[in-house]
Amino acid sequence: MKVTLTSKGSDYTFKYNRGLGRHGWLRLTPAYSVKLVEELISETPKGKRILDPFSGTATTGLSSLEQGYNAVLCDINPFLIWFGNTKLAYFSNEDLLETKRLSLESASLSSYKLMGDNWVPDIHNINRWWDCDTLLSLAALRSAIVEKIGEPSDNPIFNLIWISFSRLIIETSSAAFNHVSMSFNGSTVKHEHNQIIELFLSIVESITSTAFVETSNHAQVLNCDSRFISNIDIEKVDHVVTSPPYPNRMSYIRELRPYMYWTKFLNHATEAADLDWKAIGGTWGSATSKLKTWHPSDIDLPELLIQKCTEIKMKDDKNADLMARYVQKYFYDMHQHFSSLKNLLNEGAKIDYIVGNSSFYGVKVESEKIFEDSLLTLGFKNVSSRIVRKRNSNKELFEFCVTAYL
Ligand SMILES: C[S@@+](CC[C@H](N)C(=O)[O-])C[C@H]1O[C@@H](n2cnc3c(N)ncnc32)[C@H](O)[C@@H]1O
Repeated sequence: MKVTLTSKGSDYTFKYNRGLGRHGWLRLTPAYSVKLVEELISETPKGKRILDPFSGTATTGLSSLEQGYNAVLCDINPFLIWFGNTKLAYFSNEDLLETKRLSLESASLSSYKLMGDNWVPDIHNINRWWDCDTLLSLAALRSAIVEKIGEPSDNPIFNLIWISFSRLIIETSSAAFNHVSMSFNGSTVKHEHNQIIELFLSIVESITSTAFVETSNHAQVLNCDSRFISNIDIEKVDHVVTSPPYPNRMSYIRELRPYMYWTKFLNHATEAADLDWKAIGGTWGSATSKLKTWHPSDIDLPELLIQKCTEIKMKDDKNADLMARYVQKYFYDMHQHFSSLKNLLNEGAKIDYIVGNSSFYGVKVESEKIFEDSLLTLGFKNVSSRIVRKRNSNKELFEFCVTAYL
């Protein structure tokens, strides 16, 4: 394996993305580095088509547009599909003026709404996120926005207002981003209604000022379960640039829950569990207990995977068997995805997968090697991997780029 560890690992995280216009619109845990994606995309010959089967916040799509390529993206999370398509939309100057006008009107209407009984989302322990006054103001503003433009929809102009509102709910919450997954600051902060409004309008200003991207190319996020990606009806592609979920028990639905509840893409905990069961590596709510009865159908799984699962299973912990199943299902789903993907690739197409390794009870799960084995079994050529960055203080955790050709 070729090891080229970059000295500037911080360039390959969300921190680098923040100052980059549309890429920094919302702080979302799944996002990978724009710099890394730009480097990978720049290797695509001009005129060729790019695919990202795990779109997340549409970083690959936006970067493709910025560099003059057409791209198609897939995800199963309805909030991310909606957000991604807004990020990839074209806005004229008139659209942006209209966005600002409607935002101002919603802001002034919200002061009247404060006196009414407004809808708040059914988020577990909601007062851990927002104090009572802040919550009432957010609910009043939300109700005013709904009266002016309706709920989030397919209309990109209106969605710029909803994306601004989504950023507002996070900026006024106690969410903290200093861990791998979203956590809480010690306490909530009280905001006056006029502070909420000022902040909202300044976010609208910042989002509209970075919304203009002139392009003759096209990129779109489709709703598709990438384990069965050959079911989508698209022209074949030449380069896959993506970052699938990692086998680390992170649930994207859980990470995105404040956004998803406030925009009504999620209404009940049961919906979250159903979505997470479809998500590769999903692990929230009943998605974990369903693992107990899950059995893989008959495909040749890599020898290394079987060996790692056996080692995990033998550990002295009440959840060891469940975790072994989790790891097995993750790589089973990814194998299914690689197998289905082959049907969408042109001869000679290149694939680049950014993935992290992980550790269960001290058993190191080498995702990059298991991916390599899956790809070789499926007939991919020139399969290799290299380290992209070290993930945190644990000296064993890295992110890799796994590359192969059809
Ligand atoms: C690591 S994130 C991708 C991050 C992305 N590169 C970005 O910059 O935002 C993985 C994504 O895969 C999606 N996903 C998980 N299971 C999926 C499936 N079966 N089909 C399609 N997408 C899936 C998740 O919803 C999540 O958005």
